[in-house]
Amino acid sequence: MLVALGGADEEDVMDRLWYGGDYNPEQWPSPVWDEDVRLMQRAGVTVATVGVFSWAKLEPADGRFEFDWLDDVLDRLHAGGIRVDLATATASPPPWLVLAHPDVLPVTEDGVRLSVGSRQHYNPSSATYRRYADRLVRAIAERYGEHPALEAWHVNNELGCHVHRDYSDESAAAFRRWLEARYGGVEALNEAWGTAFWSQAYGSFDEVMPPRAAPTFRNPTQLLDFDRFSSDAWLEVYRAEARILRELTPDVPVTTNFMGFFKPIDYWSHAPELDFVSDDHYVDPADPAAAVFAAMTRDLMRSLGSGRPWILMEQSTSAVNWRPRNAAKPPGMHRVLSLQAVARGADGVMQFQWRQSAAGAEKFHSAMLPHAGEDSRIFRETAALGEELATLADLVGTRLTAKVAVLFDWDSWWALEQPATPAQLSYLAIVLRWYRELWRRHVLVDFSRPDGDLSGYAVVIAPATQVLSAGAQENLAGFVRNGGHLVASYQTGVLDERLHVLLGGYLGALRETFGIRIEEFTPPAEPSMSGGPVPALAIEGLAAGRASEWGEIVRTDTAEALATFSGGMLDGLPAITRNRAGDGTAWYVATAPDDLRTVVDAVLEGTGVEAALPHPVDGVEAVRRGDRLFLLNHTDRPVEAAGHRLDAHGAAVVTGG
Ligand code: GLA
Repeated sequence: MLVALGGADEEDVMDRLWYGGDYNPEQWPSPVWDEDVRLMQRAGVTVATVGVFSWAKLEPADGRFEFDWLDDVLDRLHAGGIRVDLATATASPPPWLVLAHPDVLPVTEDGVRLSVGSRQHYNPSSATYRRYADRLVRAIAERYGEHPALEAWHVNNELGCHVHRDYSDESAAAFRRWLEARYGGVEALNEAWGTAFWSQAYGSFDEVMPPRAAPTFRNPTQLLDFDRFSSDAWLEVYRAEARILRELTPDVPVTTNFMGFFKPIDYWSHAPELDFVSDDHYVDPADPAAAVFAAMTRDLMRSLGSGRPWILMEQSTSAVNWRPRNAAKPPGMHRVLSLQAVARGADGVMQFQWRQSAAGAEKFHSAMLPHAGEDSRIFRETAALGEELATLADLVGTRLTAKVAVLFDWDSWWALEQPATPAQLSYLAIVLRWYRELWRRHVLVDFSRPDGDLSGYAVVIAPATQVLSAGAQENLAGFVRNGGHLVASYQTGVLDERLHVLLGGYLGALRETFGIRIEEFTPPAEPSMSGGPVPALAIEGLAAGRASEWGEIVRTDTAEALATFSGGMLDGLPAITRNRAGDGTAWYVATAPDDLRTVVDAVLEGTGVEAALPHPVDGVEAVRRGDRLFLLNHTDRPVEAAGHRLDAHGAAVVTGG
């Protein structure tokens, strides 16, 4: 991992890929620790993440710290040549703490205070939690800041994972402070929230509540602001810990593990505060689309770090324990998905966890060293992967360049999936539909925010980017003017950042860019309870055939219609349009064609966007990083790609290629 830090000199920089996992030695008697180090070496482990859930063992009673056992663990790892990603241990407060201070416990929107006995049971805005967590972080940083095994700090764990939002009185007060900072006065809040509707006007900030359980639809902007506030509250947890770590150890990189496309947290605002992005990703081996979604997540992680290498911090070697049915990964699948992460810019792949637990809620979750021990398929695959990753060390620090960007926007995600909309849509499903078309063509994709710098891209896709501020509208309009190719799907540019409708045909300043106006939304019906036939949408022209999910009345101004709806009330109206504006083109797609292939082919034509391989090969992913071509077979049958035979769930990493 190469991390650009002020004080780091050459010899501090790790030139191997990270490979290892969460290491929880407190679950085992100390004689097992020697075997752990020996087997880690056999498996090619380079880094262990230690201490994630160790608070109760490090501070068994208020203010009584016991570090001897952790000294021992870190020393053994160091002696074995294994680096340490040391956690701040703040993820799960011990029982003594929350029993003495129940105000630390989170409260749900129904007013239920959650209990101890699981994990991550704290409210991010709790001052008491903050006080205790700060003291622990300081103690750990003082003790281990100079330890020779220390590679990085791992703040907390999966912030917001179980408790997405807290609705306690303490959070209500923090929410009010956040709103005051955003709006200045309550009149501005009333205006932004549209409180003239349903008699919701507030006389002062003191009257404003978090969106707790209520009779029917809550105020949409209140919901959105609470989503934003809650994401920021988790950022404050990160910041508080990072501030202490940076004060005491300015040269040690700091990260916290993200959770991919995780709705509760706007990672665009969190990522710039991390020295490197890291991510936890658990594919469902039973889901045939899992590899595409995994690729999309890897691309988001690289994009969050502005193209810098990132770390896959957790994945499972085989089954997890938290789905209703937990499929095992067939032989090879774990390797292919690990190589996929490296291909897409990761400087390491880590797993949860090193040694499979014998007790506790995760005893049926796979690990690098399974219950069966070293004489097992999983451990053999673990060791083989360690050996292979060692051969890719020269990729450390190398970057990838994409010419296509897909917009990803948490405001739009939160807004689109609110209740009281024309139809309940899945933002991720819409994004994935577009992403998949680029993935199968082996075209690398970056993600960008709607107001991000788009100047390096030839093509930008905006899938259901429902919320566009005036600045974002102008950013996209400028991208097209300057020669870019912009593709927007339905439900793009419907609302501003206060969730006020862009009146007069939606799209705001982009109406001219697209050369259209939208008059009405007409999502098709879902099958009814009576099972009666549902009229399907059909389109003709570019992308002929069935369409689903969405229809609307589009009026062209300067745009040309490349496809039209056929039949029903939309018969003959535009379904796909294209407009030339300035030096570029703007495409609008008013429905979800079953087959997007012809559309994406037409969009890419003549743009100069390159693919890692010239043609799609069913189920095969191809990515170039540095001088390597990664060929990844996600199917359960052997295939031929670029002159290489790939086994079922097999891969080839070709130098030059
Ligand atoms: C998360 C957590 C880990 C573990 C895994 C299990 O990623 O960070 O502690 O619970 O899930 O999949």
